[in-house]
Amino acid sequence: MTTHSEYDVLIIGSGTAGLTLALQLADDARVAVLSKDQLKESASLYAQGGISVVLDQADSIESHINDTLIAGAGLCDEDSVRYTVEHARESIEWLIEQGVSFTKDGVTSETYHLTQEGGHSHRRVIHSADATGREVETTLLAKATAHHNIALFPFHIGIDLITSQKQLGESDNHCLGCYALDIKSDTTHQFLAPITVLATGGAGKVYLYTSNPDVSTGDGIAMGWRAGCDVANMEFVQFHPTCLYHPKAKSFLISEALRGEGAKLLLGNGERFMTRFHEQAELAPRDIVARAIDHEMKRLGDDCIYLDISHQPPEFIELHFPTIHQRCLELGIDMTKGPIPVVPAAHYTCGGLITDQQGQTNLSGLYAIGETAHTGLHGANRMASNSLLECLVYARSAAQHIRAQLPFNQPLPVVPDWDASRAKPAKEAIAISHNWDELRRFMWDYVGIVRSNDRLNRAQRRLTLLQQEINAFYQQHHITSDLLELRNLADVAELIIQSALTRKESRGLHYTLDYPTLNSEQPAQNTVIAGKSWDRDNTP
Ligand code: FAD
Ligand code: SIN
Repeated sequence: MTTHSEYDVLIIGSGTAGLTLALQLADDARVAVLSKDQLKESASLYAQGGISVVLDQADSIESHINDTLIAGAGLCDEDSVRYTVEHARESIEWLIEQGVSFTKDGVTSETYHLTQEGGHSHRRVIHSADATGREVETTLLAKATAHHNIALFPFHIGIDLITSQKQLGESDNHCLGCYALDIKSDTTHQFLAPITVLATGGAGKVYLYTSNPDVSTGDGIAMGWRAGCDVANMEFVQFHPTCLYHPKAKSFLISEALRGEGAKLLLGNGERFMTRFHEQAELAPRDIVARAIDHEMKRLGDDCIYLDISHQPPEFIELHFPTIHQRCLELGIDMTKGPIPVVPAAHYTCGGLITDQQGQTNLSGLYAIGETAHTGLHGANRMASNSLLECLVYARSAAQHIRAQLPFNQPLPVVPDWDASRAKPAKEAIAISHNWDELRRFMWDYVGIVRSNDRLNRAQRRLTLLQQEINAFYQQHHITSDLLELRNLADVAELIIQSALTRKESRGLHYTLDYPTLNSEQPAQNTVIAGKSWDRDNTP
């Protein structure tokens, strides 16, 4: 049985992007927010370093823009960069109005401590100690929970978008909402709305090792692509240089802010090596640091390298990095006394659904914001702490654009229920879990920090086989969240591999042995993959 409901705006995802948009709209519109896990579970919850914003007298908007453009390796959209940087301050002021508490600098009661991270030429990262995301996410969630016009649906996973072409057979394609699975009751739900917004985060889980939480399976990118949205620059996957290396430390990030406060990267013999790779050493852009670490680990056959901040007084470490210090202590590592073992891991999806400055995709009625979107801000490599900023700035601009269209007076069409008539329960889950593992492993081995045509083609051959199995399974069996996520991960893997094969140069986060240098003879180009058109016979 499928249940039905209608809202003015349907937001899929309750991270920083989704909640900011919901709060911006809720005084004027009836908003539904879906989240496939607990409402707070998101990459946003785990953000550590902070949010970049020009607040220091010695800093400037032009400097923030310039640093972002340099990190983006010639592929940023300059309008998007300027728009984001110029709207940073008001976005932070809005967060403070919502009750978000940022660490003060202790100089005056009004001024904030700013930290530094890779690629930034000034201190410009505002933060809440080393748990900025937790402070932002829990504050926004409390506000959203209290708002009478926001209906929150935890444990509801979006299955696919509802479109006028696929569900109603119309020639014009317009997004009408989304089918969702209520994971707790195992029932399907039809959410209809004149405006649907994908705020589903990134796709780090497509790799075996990632800083991302389990929810980051690229669902929005895959759903949007299947519904006809164009996608850009999926080859640019950011690997964070420093995730904790420990058998029990799944997904635990060691913030770049440690390097901003003077931490050094060391080999097993204690040698500092980043000075050999870049003049900014430990504070070089992330692609350079991650590749240097990968190179040194492969050269020496080592399992990890080390990050040492023990030159700072223990009180400083406890004040600025309480969460990281505590987590390391739980695992027997005292960062006040010695180095932390670290490795790179997949961290951020720079590509995504192409949007304009208001968050609109090319599918009418559908917006995308946050890590799901490609706004042009990050180019070939995102600069640290520009992501939460993008979530805030674009959620606010999307809200403005949506608000200008209110009220929605047109009745919504009647749409068919989710059709599960051909599907039967799966006899065993092993096929799904095995395919999850296989996909993530070959993506790590063949589509990771260093690529080649040979490795990418090998990954594509394996993916083609897996996709046949996944699609057959999807046609024949009842859906579960694991199956939906696997299907989405396979679509995202296809987008990453195909984009990587298309780019015949090394630029930013995409490094390939076959074309090891940047192609400066031609203007820098985005890699665009057109949205799919519905295969009416092939989708239940
Ligand atoms: P998310 O916060 O990931 O939220 C996605 C939401 O979508 C979740 O609620 C999820 O449940 C929901 N969802 C997904 N699929 C579905 C579906 N099919 N149906 C229903 N719901 C769905 N960036 C910075 O700028 N500064 C930092 O300091 C920083 N630190 C980071 C530290 C870590 C460990 C990580 C992983 C990332 C960090 N980043 C940082 C990146 C930043 O946190 C993310 O890019 C940002 O939080 C993404 O926000 P979002 O709202 O787009 O998505
Ligand atoms: C970090 O704290 O190192 C993460 C910052 C980011 O990804 O922007």
